[in-house]
Amino acid sequence: MSDFWSYYIIAIVALNIGGCAWLLMWTRRMDIHDMPADGTTGHVYDGIREYNKPLPRWWLGLFWITIIFSLVYLVLYPGLGKFEGVLGWTSHKEVAADEKAYQEKYGAMYAGYAKLPIEELARNDAAMKIAGRLFANNCATCHGADAQGARGFPNLTDSDWLHGGEPAKIEETILHGRNGVMPPWKEAIGEDGVRNVAHYVRVMASLQSENAYSVEGAKVYASTCIACHGPDGKGNVMMGAPNLTDNVWLYGGSEGSLIKTIGEGRIGHMPAQQDLLGPERVHMLAAYVWSLSHKEK
Ligand code: HEC
Ligand code: HEC
Repeated sequence: MSDFWSYYIIAIVALNIGGCAWLLMWTRRMDIHDMPADGTTGHVYDGIREYNKPLPRWWLGLFWITIIFSLVYLVLYPGLGKFEGVLGWTSHKEVAADEKAYQEKYGAMYAGYAKLPIEELARNDAAMKIAGRLFANNCATCHGADAQGARGFPNLTDSDWLHGGEPAKIEETILHGRNGVMPPWKEAIGEDGVRNVAHYVRVMASLQSENAYSVEGAKVYASTCIACHGPDGKGNVMMGAPNLTDNVWLYGGSEGSLIKTIGEGRIGHMPAQQDLLGPERVHMLAAYVWSLSHKEK
């Protein structure tokens, strides 16, 4: 913040508080000349006469208390431009203190869980209860409270994996995040090519039988798609390229959705959690996600 804006804010705050104090004193001193002896101000409207009575003391007292409170507050806490307040409070320090208290309370517990292999941790009911809450707070916005995902957000409870379902792969996904990049193909293979290969994908997924389009589409597939989705369409977890044969869809298996996916491309972004949650909580979450598709104990 530049000095100018700092002084600007200080001036506005001082004027406001000073203004309130002045108003309070002014209303107290004000007296009405030529006041009628009956104690009214002399105003009459529609038969209603206005009395001239001072404000109750306790009421004025409340105003003074708020003014004193704001002065004390401004001395102790930041509020006057760049002045930091004598307590040196900042929201950063508060977050750090909360984090420290949290670590003292739960650090040992997490450290204990962090040593357990994911398969074992997944069978620990107490740990999974905590991990379930972590999931609800950090992951449910995208993957859903039941982890079954939505359009563009994968279902984490099935055994179909974009990036691999082994415990270590799941942990890696959550720690470092993932980007699934399906390039757009309309330019390269033309609109007909996109439609044909969309039909071929539906044939691979057993959603329809072979037709003239899909026969052409098979050729496009062989030249353009196998590098990532594999010759048999079973996908490749190294690239995050989904299995196209299992009728599990991230973006939909209708002809329209497929034409859009293939023609315009899709980008799925799973944000990295390492810096947000730390490796110990990620370990808990990896066990939780793994447990969702390994319910049998
Ligand atoms: C460079 C690698 C690559 C190539 C080449 C590629 N894809 Fe993909 N494809 C991906 C990735 C990665 C995804 C997942 C996108 C995501 O996670 O958001 C994907 C997603 C898809 C999907 C969405 C599946 C679903 O579950 O909704 C379809 C359909 C698809 N590709 C078809 C094709 C076809 C047809 C071709 C050839 C014309 C092709 N892809 C070529 C990498 C590729
Ligand atoms: C901002 C939305 C978002 C949030 C928040 C999010 N994810 Fe994801 N996640 C995604 C997307 C999108 C993908 C798919 C990436 C792709 O298309 O390749 C994904 C993929 C995954 C995968 C890989 C699934 C597979 O099939 O390989 C796992 C595991 C996962 N997320 C777990 C989590 C966990 C645990 C959390 C909470 C810490 C979380 N995600 C939070 C959007 C999100």
